[in-house]
Amino acid sequence: MAKGANNRESHGIKIAVFISGSGTNMAAILYASRLADAPLEIVLVASNIADADGLKLAELEGIPTFVHSHKGHSRTDHDAAMEAAAKDAGAQFLVLAGYMRILSDEFVRRWEGRILNIHPSLLPKYKGLDTFARAIEAGDNHAGASVHVVTPELDAGEVLAQVRVTIAPGDTPETLGARVKLAEHQLYPRAVADYVSRGTDPDFLYAKVRELALTLPETHERESHGSPGFRVGTEKTGKFFAHFSQQHHGSEHIAVLVKTGSMDELLHLVETQPDTYYKPAYYGASGWIGIILNNANVDWDHVAQWLGRSWRSVAPVRLTKLHDIADMF
Ligand code: GRF
Repeated sequence: MAKGANNRESHGIKIAVFISGSGTNMAAILYASRLADAPLEIVLVASNIADADGLKLAELEGIPTFVHSHKGHSRTDHDAAMEAAAKDAGAQFLVLAGYMRILSDEFVRRWEGRILNIHPSLLPKYKGLDTFARAIEAGDNHAGASVHVVTPELDAGEVLAQVRVTIAPGDTPETLGARVKLAEHQLYPRAVADYVSRGTDPDFLYAKVRELALTLPETHERESHGSPGFRVGTEKTGKFFAHFSQQHHGSEHIAVLVKTGSMDELLHLVETQPDTYYKPAYYGASGWIGIILNNANVDWDHVAQWLGRSWRSVAPVRLTKLHDIADMF
């Protein structure tokens, strides 16, 4: 736990930052994490370069560090060592900040949606290296920086936030790069904080459930007991297959309620996977189970499967038949 003489103890979503160099973006995130109400804390700064300046700053600030040189190791082995350190530190997200190693596809898939990177261009422009020289060369008016989700394809994941930086006449890659760095230091802490906290943001979770529920055939939304609900069938005769529950009836959970097959199944799931399921007040008695959404590791494919199953259990036969036929192809 990082502690500073004049700083509050930070408790929050745990992130590990991977660096290879000066680590100024890491420093920007670190100091932002010490502001009041910051949602995250850095639990580890890890590097493949033993004398990276950023490591010294992290040590000075009492943040645990980890070094593992990539030299003499396969990519998979090096990644595994970095990953183990991040996991041991309890990291829920990985933040790359000038980390000059490409992560193996398997690593990225294991952390899908939980690795962020900052890239010094306005993506999708100028992926890869020498971004400032390329922007100047092209005669662009603006350069900038982008924060994106890391996917196996380099610099190609969803762009979460960007900042524009004007290119001045006579700019060199160095002068432009220095200003982009200043802008990055504003952008990255905010973008990381927004992204990691959206898992506890009721608006984000509701929008996600809504999108998944309403892609199922012949569905519509209807409020029920003051909460959003989702029905299948016509407006007149439709039936509920899901309810969105935001800390309802004193529960601490934000959840989607779906129909189980039986009370035995419900109780078994709640007992064996208490981090994922709970028995909601009132609804629980008639077989609805709560899938907890406000934790960092929600498996949205799993939520989608449950919604589909719940939909099927109440949908009119004419719809499930069509679905069965479509599933055969
Ligand atoms: C930043 O310019 C970032 O866009 C790129 O690497 C640089 C890291 O700088 N990915 P620093 O180590 O944070 O100072």
